[in-house]
Amino acid sequence: MGTVGYAKPSGDSEVGSSRNRRGRWVTTASSANRTLPNLLYLHSVIMEMMRMYPVGPLLVPHESSEEFRVGRYRAPRGTMLLINLFAIQNDPKYWPDVLKFKSERFEGKEGVRDGYKMMPFGLTRRGCPAEKLALCTIGLTLGSLIRCFEWN
Ligand code: HEM
Repeated sequence: MGTVGYAKPSGDSEVGSSRNRRGRWVTTASSANRTLPNLLYLHSVIMEMMRMYPVGPLLVPHESSEEFRVGRYRAPRGTMLLINLFAIQNDPKYWPDVLKFKSERFEGKEGVRDGYKMMPFGLTRRGCPAEKLALCTIGLTLGSLIRCFEWN
């Protein structure tokens, strides 16, 4: 599996895990906090995964508290608003080689927002308050799986 091969870090104490006295992998919060922010390739892989397969493809339904306009459409107060996030994040207009898993597109863009074309956690006031926790948990889980098992 090429991608996993690249994502696999070197060194025995990566991805928040290290070996105990019996040689088994164990994960500690302190080693996770220390190493995860440095695993930029892993982060790019996670972002590309969330681009192609967003957990909430239509985000969460919202309801307008007052009348509003989007382009030439007028929506009265109380309209249910669904954002087609899957369509936005898989739109070839914004994403070259849209069907290809290319984690490189997120390299060097950690913490940078590029308009509204990528928003797996929603945005602004009603955006997911656990974005950091979720990214950390996914990184730790995926990183540990890559680190602790041999993948073919
Ligand atoms: C991969 C993991 C997760 C994804 C992709 C995700 C995504 C989202 C999305 C898209 C929304 C709606 C944003 C919007 O309305 O525009 C949301 C809201 C929310 N999420 Fe998450 N979430 C994740 C994990 C979590 C976790 C682990 C927690 C709690 C520990 C959490 C707590 C919440 C809460 C409380 C809201 C409602 C915020 C509000 O309405 O003000 N999420 N999340």
